[in-house]
Amino acid sequence: MPLFPDYIIREVAEKNDIYDVVSQTVSLKKTGSSYIGLCPFHNEKTPSFSVSPRRGIFKCFGCGEGGDVIGFVMKNENLTFYEAVSRLAQRANIQLPEIKQKDAEQAKRRKEKSDLLHAINKDSAEFFYNNIKQSPQAVEYFKKRQLDARVVKAFWLGYAPDGWTSLFDYLKDKGYTESDIYDAGLIRRHESGRYYDYFRNRIMFTIFDANSNIIGFGGRVLDDSKPKYLNSPDSSLFSKSKNLYSFNVARHSKKPFVILCEGYMDTIALVTAGYDNTVATLGTAIGEHQARLLAKNFDEVVICYDSDQAGRTATNRAITVLRSQSKLKISVLDLKAKKDPDEFIKTYGKDRFDMLLAARKPDMEYLIDYFGENYNLKKSNEILSYIADLSEYLKLVPTQIELDVYANIISEKTGVQTSSIIAQAGMRKSGATSKLDSTNTDVINVVNKGSLPTNSKEYLDKTRALLLSTLFYDSKLFENYRHQLDISMFESSIHRTIFAYIDECFKKGEKVSNTMLLSRFETKEEINAVSGILAMDVQSDDTAHAVSDYINQIKQKAGPEMALQLMKEGKISLEEFNKMINNKG
Ligand code: CTP
Ligand code: MN
Repeated sequence: MPLFPDYIIREVAEKNDIYDVVSQTVSLKKTGSSYIGLCPFHNEKTPSFSVSPRRGIFKCFGCGEGGDVIGFVMKNENLTFYEAVSRLAQRANIQLPEIKQKDAEQAKRRKEKSDLLHAINKDSAEFFYNNIKQSPQAVEYFKKRQLDARVVKAFWLGYAPDGWTSLFDYLKDKGYTESDIYDAGLIRRHESGRYYDYFRNRIMFTIFDANSNIIGFGGRVLDDSKPKYLNSPDSSLFSKSKNLYSFNVARHSKKPFVILCEGYMDTIALVTAGYDNTVATLGTAIGEHQARLLAKNFDEVVICYDSDQAGRTATNRAITVLRSQSKLKISVLDLKAKKDPDEFIKTYGKDRFDMLLAARKPDMEYLIDYFGENYNLKKSNEILSYIADLSEYLKLVPTQIELDVYANIISEKTGVQTSSIIAQAGMRKSGATSKLDSTNTDVINVVNKGSLPTNSKEYLDKTRALLLSTLFYDSKLFENYRHQLDISMFESSIHRTIFAYIDECFKKGEKVSNTMLLSRFETKEEINAVSGILAMDVQSDDTAHAVSDYINQIKQKAGPEMALQLMKEGKISLEEFNKMINNKG
């Protein structure tokens, strides 16, 4: 059997979404972060076949079958490993090694194409810019919005004329082909087969990527007609969910925080006033990709959305999305009576905006006040709704300390005990098994379809599995807890192999791959068992706490031998040893 190199197998597994592949033959329904359906490998009437796209794993809790996307295709279509990989490679347009010479050529062609599309966009931006002079209405508009010549130039603002093919003709004259202009998102095709300009009679905002290539445009009407904005269509070049307006400028800012606003006009007003650390989304709600981008470049995001209800709802959403970045601080700015940052700064100027900035509230404090406005906190039923609303956000708080701080504030406002608020947030009931009782009910239901084993050996093994499952998909967490972990904490060879694999990847600085891990096991039973562990979708919002709990439970309950072993190896102090012995379960 010819074998593929590891990197190809990894790529094949990564580029074939397990949900897409499985759902071609199995009808799946979403539950939490995974999907369930009727198992194709045994006869059943109630679904126990679960697919986790995030983890790239399927597992049937009825018959036990489990594996990654390659394993699924092998079983489902009765193919060999080689055949399944070939099939999936073809599906994802991945060149297999035999024809690998073509790879480099293809990459080169892709690069040439994106260079070309950037050039077309740049010529278009220049075209729009040069058009302002010939359009009194555009000049008038910029004046009305207080956008002086310097700002217009710095932001590459422009005007798309009212004709049907002005830009199209201009670009054709420059020698670009119809299909390239179309791929750049600048023309549309009419039913008749003719092409016409995508942007007509609009004020143009040029959108750059992080490297200052021009990737698209936003076009605003000059009056109140609809749609107010038209943005370049998403393409190989332009993605609204991956880019941010003015991020190419903001990423070079020396300020530690970034101001996130809703609109192009807001961003321009703030950057012009000296806040080079301002960005805006591109007409869509902020997504995880953008949150990651901000977290990589800044310590804090100051949300500065419009003060209307839409803006406030978007603020709450943004908090949820940004909270996925555990290290990121989030705060919210209150524009008082003004509609948006653009209007505020134009009315009151930079000094007053600085005061707003200084008074920005941490996200949770903002929410405590925001939801507080909706309820009468003298009435018990309203207090309950208030705390229920807040719990949705308190769940996102990653540390116990932070949670305590906010629970105390809420407690003072409502008279409800801090511990009850914390319990409601689903973080922690009293006692050592809290994690497994509350936060991981999802895991338990999915994995076990019952309650957690009370027998201490089984309980411990389940805890070990949860620990491995959590660490497998979070290298940062693994790194943070590596010093507390040791292979001696695991008993079964399966657990030990998983731990050793994660550790190996960590040491090599490599990303873990469930496909690579599964390839270390031979028997079907082992593969199914490992898949079961990987499929434990630990939905805790506080994985760091969960991990620390798992580790403590294993250390506390795994018995004196392990404690002795750990102490001998210098992994724990005498004090910790005594604690472990005294706490044994
Ligand atoms: N937006 C969009 N499509 C629309 C309306 C809005 O893509 N039909 C996006 C644009 O990116 C816009 C942002 O949402 O910048 C905010 O919308 P809005 O507040 O309506 O516009 P402003 O940028 O504030 O523009 P203006 O001040 O001219 O109203
Ligand atoms: Mn606005």
